[in-house]
Amino acid sequence: MSPEAGAFALAARAADELRARSGVERYDVAVVLGSGWREGAVALGVPTSIVATGELSGFVAPTVAGHDGAILSLEVAGRHVALVAGRVHLYEGHDAARVVHPVRTVVAAGARVVVLTNAAGGIDPALTPGSVVVVRDHLNLTGTSPLEGEAPPAPYAARFVDLTDLYSARLRALVREVAPTLAEGVYAGLRGPHYETPAEIEALRRSGADLVGMSTVLEAIAARHLGAEVLALSLVSNPAAGVAAAPLDHREVLATGQHAARSLGELLARLVPRL
Ligand code: HPA
Repeated sequence: MSPEAGAFALAARAADELRARSGVERYDVAVVLGSGWREGAVALGVPTSIVATGELSGFVAPTVAGHDGAILSLEVAGRHVALVAGRVHLYEGHDAARVVHPVRTVVAAGARVVVLTNAAGGIDPALTPGSVVVVRDHLNLTGTSPLEGEAPPAPYAARFVDLTDLYSARLRALVREVAPTLAEGVYAGLRGPHYETPAEIEALRRSGADLVGMSTVLEAIAARHLGAEVLALSLVSNPAAGVAAAPLDHREVLATGQHAARSLGELLARLVPRL
């Protein structure tokens, strides 16, 4: 998907295809479902349509188990919500433009609020598996940006996008209203797919990170660049490397998601009507 200027046109085309197939003229909110969050999202209601992302321009098939590509449309408290299931990651061999294409598509289809959900390792030992953390800020350690390459064409904003308020204070305040006990934290986004070494986790902790994962940061930058408000929620699936004695296991990440699915769903069901 190069040159980059073509990425915006491709997302606009995919948005038109999505609108035509879903029958939704304009979305209000998009929720990108990370590990564990998809099972919970059924609490939001019955989808009015499910569009396989394979039918939409520019989408690639996810290679991670439990990440089938689909955009589910729902109406929640009068809001048109797009649930994006099946995100793709840098570690699957895709470039940043490909990774953010689903987010650019749903924003092009109207979404002004983008909720990014993920599973993450807890660096702060107080963050126990199964808890949800509201991302206050991030460290983008992927070494790339979705805005790298050719300048975005008019009418898109310049690539030198300000990220001071990347994770919207307004949306974080709304989460506090519906779930006052949730902690906030800084998410470090790495390329993976290997988990980190204990030394890397210690370095991240000293750099101010509370959580570590392999998604979210590029999508947040792309959504912000398009003027959307961004909220990110992390399910702590495991203590990060060296934080607890046990070795890390991808099955543990998936199992924590399954156990937490109901409470994740309840959180989304309380939150989305307020967004
Ligand atoms: N590290 C990186 N990514 C992750 C982790 C982790 O410990 N857990 C879930 N995603």
